[in-house]
Amino acid sequence: PSDSDTMDLKRVIRNIPDFPKPGILFYDISTLLADAPAWKETVRRLANRVRAYQPDLLVGIESRGFLSAAPLAVELGLGFAMIRKRGKLPGTTIGHDYALEYGEDRVEIQADAVKHGQRVVLLDDLLATGGTAAAGITLLRSVGAEVVSAAFIIELAFLRGRERLDVAVDSIITYD
Ligand code: PRP
Ligand code: MG
Repeated sequence: PSDSDTMDLKRVIRNIPDFPKPGILFYDISTLLADAPAWKETVRRLANRVRAYQPDLLVGIESRGFLSAAPLAVELGLGFAMIRKRGKLPGTTIGHDYALEYGEDRVEIQADAVKHGQRVVLLDDLLATGGTAAAGITLLRSVGAEVVSAAFIIELAFLRGRERLDVAVDSIITYD
């Protein structure tokens, strides 16, 4: 294997205890983004996974999903659309309301962002409970997308988020 294949990306992810709440260990990708070779390698590994699904379009979820979706779109020569939190997108939008542990949230996409039947890969930085990605997938289907996979930089496997997603799931860094 080449040097890049063996690069340990976990080494450049910073773990911050008790954020955003006591007892939660936060996996901070700021240090990964700041490390040029490691970030380049992250995008390369994601591209190799995502390419296999032959998507027509990439979609990132606000806000940290944009960080990987945008460079990946350039790398794969694809367009990129945004799913945003409520009220952020102009023009005609389609929304999906979903339940949180406490309360409710809403994701939105512009009505013309996806063409009917387009093969879409959903991007986010991290898969935890899967609630965010599940909402994104439901929203994408409501606008006619064929969601072919969801791809993440980090997966917190112990939270079993992938069991909530009925599409292929890829992640490049896993915590058990
Ligand atoms: C974080 C992370 C994922 C989501 C994962 O986003 O970026 O989008 O949580 O959690 P889940 O699998 O349990 O839904 P957050 O809502 O903190 O917002 P941000 O991306 O805007 O920082
Ligand atoms: Mg997020």
